Amino acid sequence: MLETDQKKVWKARAKTYNNLKWVNNDNLKKAILKHGDFAPNQIVLDAGTGTGAIAVTIAPHVKEVHGIDISPEMLSLAFNGCKNVSYKEGDIRSMKIADGYYDRVTARNVFHNILSAEDRLKAAKECLRVLKKGGKFILQEGVPPHPSLKSDFERIFALKETRVTFVPEEMKKLLRDAGFAKASVEIVKDPDFDLINWLDNDGTLSEEVKKRIVYLHVNGSEEFKKHYNVRTAGGRILIDTNAAFAIGEK
Ligand SMILES: C[S@@+](CC[C@H](N)C(=O)[O-])C[C@H]1O[C@@H](n2cnc3c(N)ncnc32)[C@H](O)[C@@H]1O
Repeated sequence: MLETDQKKVWKARAKTYNNLKWVNNDNLKKAILKHGDFAPNQIVLDAGTGTGAIAVTIAPHVKEVHGIDISPEMLSLAFNGCKNVSYKEGDIRSMKIADGYYDRVTARNVFHNILSAEDRLKAAKECLRVLKKGGKFILQEGVPPHPSLKSDFERIFALKETRVTFVPEEMKKLLRDAGFAKASVEIVKDPDFDLINWLDNDGTLSEEVKKRIVYLHVNGSEEFKKHYNVRTAGGRILIDTNAAFAIGEK
């Protein structure tokens, strides 16, 4: 059975995390800068910061970025070198942070790790609580490239990890349910996702599971191959993926 304790999951996955091409993908970094609407006087919380890829992306545009994460192993590999970025251990579901402290809160690919709906709502409410009035929460998640492919997406991910699959409207609803005054969601296409790099650097997968996941991509339905734009190039298997950015305003 796949591990569900997030501290254990990320202890195992930390070692190879920074080798994942998507983590430092410029296209996604540009998108978070656009959606975050950052300014030099702002203090930002990057919740579930992992190795800080988003924290250091935002840092040059704001006054300070504070990254928190539940995994000490991920934090031990965090990108350093930005004077205005600091990291500490913390759980997004219950943050030891004063009300209204931050101008922005970001959370990239964190909420799909929070397995109960009750805990996801608790985490979203925490993000709202620590924001100043008028502050923004930027919630980013990978989503199926078309709503018709949600079950394929879930079937593939179920081979590799225990997680929640969002569709964009559910992200918007989560923010509304948490009490954000305004919520919107936008999709950003992320082309050229390297499937083998993703599988090889997961850190926990057997060769058998990797082969099965490759098989499901290469032998997917015509609908699947069309929406994922599955192709091989220079010995790599490339797909186009979608990231959803849900923006909540306090
Ligand atoms: C896919 S990684 C994303 C890391 C980073 N946001 C990024 O985009 O590179 C998910 C991260 O969420 C963290 N995480 C999972 N559950 C958490 C929780 N309840 N509170 C804080 N961090 C959590 C994990 O430890 C892991 O570092």
